[in-house]
This record gives sequence, C-alpha cells and structure tokens, in this order.
Amino acid sequence: MKKLLGVILSTAIVVSMMAGCGSKGSGSSGSKSAALSDGVLTVGTNAEFPPFEYVGDDGEPDGFDMALIKAIGDELGVKVVIENMDFDSLVSAIGSKTDVAIAGMTVTDERKQSVDFSEPYFDAVQHVLVPANSDISSYDDLVGKTIGVQLGTTGDFLVEDIEGATAQQYTKAVDAVNDLVNGRVDAVIVDSNPAGVFAKNFEGTIKDLDGADFGFEVENYAIALPKGDSELKAAIDGALKKLKENGTYDELVKKYI
Ligand code: ARG
Repeated sequence: MKKLLGVILSTAIVVSMMAGCGSKGSGSSGSKSAALSDGVLTVGTNAEFPPFEYVGDDGEPDGFDMALIKAIGDELGVKVVIENMDFDSLVSAIGSKTDVAIAGMTVTDERKQSVDFSEPYFDAVQHVLVPANSDISSYDDLVGKTIGVQLGTTGDFLVEDIEGATAQQYTKAVDAVNDLVNGRVDAVIVDSNPAGVFAKNFEGTIKDLDGADFGFEVENYAIALPKGDSELKAAIDGALKKLKENGTYDELVKKYI
C-alpha cells in the first residue's frame, strides 16, 4: 500500500511538471510569429554594399543595415544571426535558409510577388559612375553602352530598358567598379550611397553622376519578410517605429551614412 501511494504521488508530480511546461510553451507560441518563436532571427544579407553592409575588419558583416537589424532584434528580444550570401539569392532564401533579409533592398512589384516588405526605412536613387574623362552625362548617352551592374539589382533591371545597352553583371558591385577603372565597361549603375563610397575610393579616376538627372526614380529600401506572416511584419514595423521615435535610427544614420 505504501509503495502504491509512492507511485501515485510521483506520477502526480511528473504530470504537474509537464503541465507547467505545456502552459509556458503554448503561452509564448500563441502570440508570436513562427520566425520569432525560437528566439533567433536569421537574417540574410549581401555584405558588398557600403555603407549599408560590408565585411568589417573582424571579418563580420557590419554597416547601417546590420546595426539597424540588431537594434530591431534587441527591441523584439531575439538574437540576430546574419547569413551573408549573393544578393540574387536573398529573396528565395526567405522561409528556408533565413527568416528575413536586409540588404539595401528596394521594394519592387516583382519582389512583392514572393515576399512582403516592412515599412520603408531609407530612400535612394540609382547613380551612374563613369571614368573622370567620360562624355556620358544624360540617359541618351547610355544608349548602346556596356554597363556594369550587380546581378539581380534594380540597377541591373534598369539597363534592360536602355536601348542597345549591354548589362555586364557581377556578383559584387566593387568588381564592376574595378572593371570601370580598367576600362572594361563604359559606366556602372549602382545605388546612390554605395556609388558615393566607391567614387571616393577612386577620387579623380571616376565621376559619380546623380541618376535623378538621368530620369531614374526614387527607390525605397525595406526589410524583406516571409509572405503572409503579418505578426512578424507588425513586430518589425513596430520596432522600426520605436527606433525612429527614440533617436536610435538617427544615431545609426549619423554613425554609418
Ligand atoms: N537597391 C538595389 C536593389 O534592391 C541594390 C541592393 C544591393 N544590395 C546589396 N546588399 N548588395 O536591387
């Protein structure tokens, strides 16, 4: 009898411990997006796009976007793990290799067919880099030219519309810039801020022309999200809003851009 009572008691203790675990688990998973529920946000980027993302001296991705997504992770209480990959793999990696992507990525209708976007966090326009002695100064001057671009970027897509122009595609924008310096391409089309960084690195050798003078439109950068995860979008948009309100966003702009 004593023995039986012991079995019943210990069973009761195990059952109540299990019940305790169960209620904790369901409490957190019920209110959180699947991407956040494990406490880790896996973020795709392409660290070839200064000042938004580049590989720092310690070999780790650094830059404005990296600091911004880490601040968002802090707001949401999750650890941010960065996966560095080719730019044209970022969208398809979401939902399999990664939870989200931040990479100076422009919101486009085509991308919206595969992913959702956060609220925009930065504006840009494509710029045209040319050799210092080049005559190129308007859209018509680009007709028939060989133009270096990073594969799968909005700069790449723009060249498709320029009559007779050939897009020379590179996985890294910096390689396009090196080929501009070596005379292998006539121009490079790349986003405004990276264009400024590259032009500065080759001061006197290349000119940085504002794409607004070529009729290029303003683009909005946003964080790419898995399609249909409205809880994750609300969480990330909420964190972004908070970082704008509390001055963190402005501090990061000052530090990196
Ligand atoms: N804004 C452009 C786009 O969305 C270029 C982004 C390139 N970003 C990068 N991290 N390499 O296509």
